[in-house]
Amino acid sequence: MNIPFVDLRKQYAPLKQEILSGIERVLDSMQLFLGENVQQLEKDFAQYSGVAYGIGVSDGTTALQILLRALDIGQGDEVITVSHTFIATAEAILLVGARPVFVDIDPNTCLMDVSQIESRITSRTKAILPVHLYGQMVDMDPLLEIAKKHNLRVIEDACQAHGAEYKGRKAGSMGDGGAFSFYFSKNLGAYGEGGFVTTNDAEIASKVRMLRDHGSKTRYHHDILGFNARLDEIQAVVLRAKLPHLAEWNEKRREHARLYNELLKGTSTIPMSELPGATPIYHLYVIRVPKRDELQSFLKDNGIFTGIHYPIPIHLQKAMEFLGYKQGNLPVTEQMVTEILSLPMYAELSNDEISYTVKKINDFFS
Ligand SMILES: Cc1ncc(COP(=O)(O)O)c(C=O)c1O
Repeated sequence: MNIPFVDLRKQYAPLKQEILSGIERVLDSMQLFLGENVQQLEKDFAQYSGVAYGIGVSDGTTALQILLRALDIGQGDEVITVSHTFIATAEAILLVGARPVFVDIDPNTCLMDVSQIESRITSRTKAILPVHLYGQMVDMDPLLEIAKKHNLRVIEDACQAHGAEYKGRKAGSMGDGGAFSFYFSKNLGAYGEGGFVTTNDAEIASKVRMLRDHGSKTRYHHDILGFNARLDEIQAVVLRAKLPHLAEWNEKRREHARLYNELLKGTSTIPMSELPGATPIYHLYVIRVPKRDELQSFLKDNGIFTGIHYPIPIHLQKAMEFLGYKQGNLPVTEQMVTEILSLPMYAELSNDEISYTVKKINDFFS
């Protein structure tokens, strides 16, 4: 059996005609940016995410930068986040001139250990930036409480969490703003680059709209310095065709996760825990496992493709040396990166493929 890590062709096949005719209409009209598809997607994805305002942007990294800028976070400011995430989270903070301050993670979820936040707050701290990694939700209530107590902004990195819920509230709807990525392999992915900002604050929304289009409301009138970060119509066509299926695809992923959890019981693997009251969307299905690298090669030799998200924590990346972090500063993060393995996960995955993957994991350990 050959089991890819993600198989996007299976998702594309039933949507092909709708997507191609939508793209044809865009090309016939030559309205390539910020047209009816982007506008409709902004309404629909904002509604889906339970927020008042949604703004399509070029990618998730820029969504984070624009939100930080919209909240006036920059030079001299500190933003509390995690090192166990994709580099873009910290990159965005640094690119606006601020400094990421890392807290460690909870080994059961690999998400921000909220109990460590307060010990990292200084007079320069301006915001907390939780990352709903793997499509699992950070424990937002205590985090929001801390933010309120210390008058800090909250930006949710929801780039892997389209539709994930925490106590009935969607990712990206709880802080001052949420940043999403439509990178092709996300639960909601474009066929190129794309991103999105969610917020319930009209002023933030209006500033984000300006920032994504060179700081202008009216063409060639630039009130602030911004970005070239518009979402294009062709990507919006793709995303609009996919959005009506997202809830069902997320449910399929949850079913797959339940089956993996069930079949993996009694093995030497530990799946990520779900936070009580949260509904994750399993962008990635991650286990902790001994002899991780050997297992990964064994699975590959048996046609099963896995991933490691992520193998090197941000605070130990070469590009981040100047921040002054050292090995040992974030012990849980540093331990987890040696144990985590992401198993194949996508809505169209079959039960047989999941059973085969678990069988091969069992074969490896016996
Ligand atoms: C957690 C996280 N943050 C930020 C990003 C950045 O998104 P993009 O690749 O669309 O710039 C990604 C996605 O790649 C991500 O997974």
